[in-house]
Amino acid sequence: MTKSRLLIDTDPGVDDALAILMAHAHADVVGLSIAAGNVGLGHTVGNALKLVDVIGAQTPVFAGCPVPLVLPAADAGFVHGVDGFGDVGYLPSARQAAAEHAANAIVRLAREHAGRLTLIALGPLTNLALALRLDPELPSRVARLVVMGGAVTGRGNTHLVPAEFNTGFDPEAAHIVFSGWPQFDLVDWEACVRHAIPFASFDRMLAAGDARAQFYAAISRKARAFNESHERAGMIIADALAMAVALEPGIVTRAERHHVGVELAGALTRGATVVDWEDRLGRPANARIVLEVEQAHFEALAAAALGAHKSDAPG
Ligand code: BDR
Ligand code: CA
Repeated sequence: MTKSRLLIDTDPGVDDALAILMAHAHADVVGLSIAAGNVGLGHTVGNALKLVDVIGAQTPVFAGCPVPLVLPAADAGFVHGVDGFGDVGYLPSARQAAAEHAANAIVRLAREHAGRLTLIALGPLTNLALALRLDPELPSRVARLVVMGGAVTGRGNTHLVPAEFNTGFDPEAAHIVFSGWPQFDLVDWEACVRHAIPFASFDRMLAAGDARAQFYAAISRKARAFNESHERAGMIIADALAMAVALEPGIVTRAERHHVGVELAGALTRGATVVDWEDRLGRPANARIVLEVEQAHFEALAAAALGAHKSDAPG
């Protein structure tokens, strides 16, 4: 089977890190375009470069926008660590980011791999919104777009109660992408909560894995403690779930297609995703909202990416 070809827009971030490991284990990755989000751009770029070292890959890393398009936003260092990778003091990579801006790289790579590329967005949509403004034909060149973002029934994870972090961090960018991209898969926060990886399974993967697992065990320790202290059913590794959907479209067992918009002006709802569940607005269904996936398959993809092959791991 031909491997899928991925371009990953991301703000690493502990959950982004597992997603990036999964992508390199199961697909060809043509680039990492980096946004600010979980932490500032200096850290997210540094984390991406370090991860490429840990993987032993040559994936180019493109630095993107240091701030959201319109208004400043608070980061998520309280979950991911001040440096976004659990503050373990890792030795920084000697690699450098490419000179090209992330938004330009998205436009160029979509042309070079026209019709073949799966684009997956794991962070605030700032870079992708700019790329779409630079090249309005971008969606026609991309085979598939998968977005991790939104909270489809308003149970978000930010101080803006109904908003999820990625759409809440840069609502204008999310609005540009959601209103300009005709069809995308949406893996929202609430699906990620339902698909938390139980702590025992997570710990088993880390114990059975290789150097990637050792690195991941270190950088995820703080996030694990955060998940436990917030009485979650396990590790919510949102971006890894979105990556599983990007890698294996057949993993989805329940989904609905509807129009999804992004609230920009609400006094209580800025950054929230608004789903037309009853299709009353007469707008085209831009999103396939992923509601359930095969959990064992998801965990197998994650385990394999850490070097801990589960018996039900594909391939
Ligand atoms: C999303 O926000 C970030 O904190 C995570 O990396 C993920 O992309 C979850 O809401
Ligand atoms: Ca992310």
